[in-house]
Amino acid sequence: MFPQTRLRRLRKSPQMRRLVEETRLDPCQIIQPVFVVEGRNIEEPIRSMPGQFHFSVDQLANKVKGLNEEKLGGLLLFGVPEKKDPKNPLVAQAIQAIKEVKPGLLVATDVCLCAYTDHGHCGLMGPDGQIQNDASLEVLAEMALGHAQAGADLIAPSDMLDGRVKVIRQTLDENGFAETPIMSYSAKYASAFYGPFRDAAHSAPQFGDRKSYQMNPANRREAMREIAADIEEGADIVMIKPALPYLDVIAEARRRFDVPIAAYQVSGEYVMLQKMGEEAVRESLIAIKRAGADIIISYFADA
Ligand code: PBG
Ligand code: ZN
Repeated sequence: MFPQTRLRRLRKSPQMRRLVEETRLDPCQIIQPVFVVEGRNIEEPIRSMPGQFHFSVDQLANKVKGLNEEKLGGLLLFGVPEKKDPKNPLVAQAIQAIKEVKPGLLVATDVCLCAYTDHGHCGLMGPDGQIQNDASLEVLAEMALGHAQAGADLIAPSDMLDGRVKVIRQTLDENGFAETPIMSYSAKYASAFYGPFRDAAHSAPQFGDRKSYQMNPANRREAMREIAADIEEGADIVMIKPALPYLDVIAEARRRFDVPIAAYQVSGEYVMLQKMGEEAVRESLIAIKRAGADIIISYFADA
């Protein structure tokens, strides 16, 4: 008790403060999302996300040459194809091009159908306007396999359909990719913070919303069930998304599970924080770490 206890003693100098610092940011654990488009020689600013770009495969390879792979956790690729077909090879081409110039750079890929379907939903659509959960799984698994075959280091399914981790794991295993890990978007909330991304990925649902598959922002216990299910199905890393508005979910998951936890600082968070400047960005990333995330996916990663 005061005056014996003086907590300010350990805040006196920068040296003392860093000596007792509990949480550190390591750029090796931060992953940068990247948007890949068709065409050549394209590096086009994304209007809804200032500072982020649409890259054609050749330009992405160019950009990657200048990246220091020692100072970055990796890239998370999103395909923005012109032809809306789940078999579109755009992302596979991007993986190959990156691996050619920087074999040591970790490449993760988003696996989902929303950017590959006319309706913009994350699964196949039935005639009744409902998502066809089980019929979608094979299509997702095919996409995941294509990415693995192209050389992806980490497969990240973001669709939030039931059972997809199991089917993707099985498909990878049966085709010689038993050692390719899965980072599952396990607790992905139906969030308004994805707004700028949907513009960037041309993946906005053309009707309805994603509430029948993405989680209700009001629920934390349910997130633990989602995470437990994904681990059971074979997820190597589980993700919580968005990050900053869901720190309690990250902290609870940290207490309950021993797998690596990733948190996705999404497009809406990016746009808000950008206005606040560098210090606020750092603080937000530290907060996500402190809550218990090992890995952060952030548009500020390569900044
Ligand atoms: C698509 C997907 C989304 C994001 C990642 N994958 C959008 C959505 O579900 O509508 C959001 C990323 C961001 O906002 O930065 N399944
Ligand atoms: Zn989707």
